[in-house]
Amino acid sequence: MYQHIIFDLDGTLTDSGRGILNSVRYALDKMGVAVPEEKVLRRFIGPPLTGSFIKWCGMSQARAEEGLRLFRERYIPTGWRENRVYPGIRPLLRALKGRGCRLYVATGKSEESALRVLAYFGLLPYLDGVAAPKPEDLTADKAQMIRSLCPAGPESVIVGDTLGDVQAGLDAGVDSIAVGYGFGEWPEEAQKKATHFVQTVSALGECLLGETPRERGIFLTLEGLDGCGKTTQRETVRRLMEDLGYETVVTREPGGCPISEKIRELLLSAANSEMTPTTEALLYAASRAQHTHEVIAPALKSGKAVICDRYVDSSLAYQGGGRELGIDTILQYNQAGMQGLVPDVTICFEIDRATSLKRRYAASAPDRMELAEDAFFARTEEAFRTLKGRWPDRYLTLDGRGAPEEVEALLSEKLPAFLQKKGLI
Ligand code: TYD
Repeated sequence: MYQHIIFDLDGTLTDSGRGILNSVRYALDKMGVAVPEEKVLRRFIGPPLTGSFIKWCGMSQARAEEGLRLFRERYIPTGWRENRVYPGIRPLLRALKGRGCRLYVATGKSEESALRVLAYFGLLPYLDGVAAPKPEDLTADKAQMIRSLCPAGPESVIVGDTLGDVQAGLDAGVDSIAVGYGFGEWPEEAQKKATHFVQTVSALGECLLGETPRERGIFLTLEGLDGCGKTTQRETVRRLMEDLGYETVVTREPGGCPISEKIRELLLSAANSEMTPTTEALLYAASRAQHTHEVIAPALKSGKAVICDRYVDSSLAYQGGGRELGIDTILQYNQAGMQGLVPDVTICFEIDRATSLKRRYAASAPDRMELAEDAFFARTEEAFRTLKGRWPDRYLTLDGRGAPEEVEALLSEKLPAFLQKKGLI
């Protein structure tokens, strides 16, 4: 097994395509140049941009330089954040570290931008060294970088998506694993130059570890009073988790699978006004038991990020607090069906009751829960506060009063930092 593993960054650990292409589109739009079709556009990823503007858009050198300037105008402040970690990379790095391997990154990206990307996506903690060109370096000699990071010989390997990575390995006297999922093209002849060629991240895992690493996924729940905006932000959470390299499952409670959706109808139908608080609490728990069994537990087991719009905390707040059954009673009701699956992160969107009421009535005819009196919502709100105090490590509380874009910006800033602090990414 390799002891020293050097990873290329773009096209190997992270997919920078989206940010680059969006920024190329931006530059072309600003210059009034027609955007080429997707197939052509993808060729912009990798080679120097001025050359691509000349080759694919028929620009002069001066126009191409203007294109590069406009590209940077978008890429530097925002485009680089549109990177994502390839799904499966994070568990692989974690598993390799667990086996005591030393891991490095060697990249042609400037040191500053490489460190920024690695820090933003939470990859730095896995690394024992990063080699990247400093501003004064004009050339990025990867073989030299490899030599600076680890010893030559059969214990070391470079993993990369281009022939340049394989060649650097040969020059530095280390093995190479070429990956076919990045941006490089791999005709058979080129594949033969690498010590190993793999097409997917899981094949890379097989090659490095002898197995595909599996680990439990991440369980995120969204909570708050009705109208707090959590359903709107589900997509933001999905995007953030996918950018971090997770496959996602987005679901909701009550509901989320056929039996639980039927229970949802019972719970929310305004016609069922005679339902007792205990019946209500047990039906929410029953819906949750089926949903946990069918959707949440299997998805977590296969390493996915589960994003669930409401979960047990809603029962604790609405039935425990709002209906005054008590938080601990509700916990007991739910224990049998939850399979011990407590959320890793509960994102709670805080709004005041007046905003909640306004948004609720603007949305649609009130359901049975929404018909409750104000005192019920006051108790629910209070219970959410109690829960937040009881589990501060799991609660990420955000101000939900702003416009959707403001809440989205807040979430994009706070969630990755929260996950990092908890050691989840
Ligand atoms: P829903 O239409 O999903 O509302 P929202 O978009 O605000 O989530 O309806 C769910 C309602 O059920 C909501 O009023 C909160 C309530 N609820 C509970 O009282 N207990 C629970 O355990 C859950 C999951 C929801």
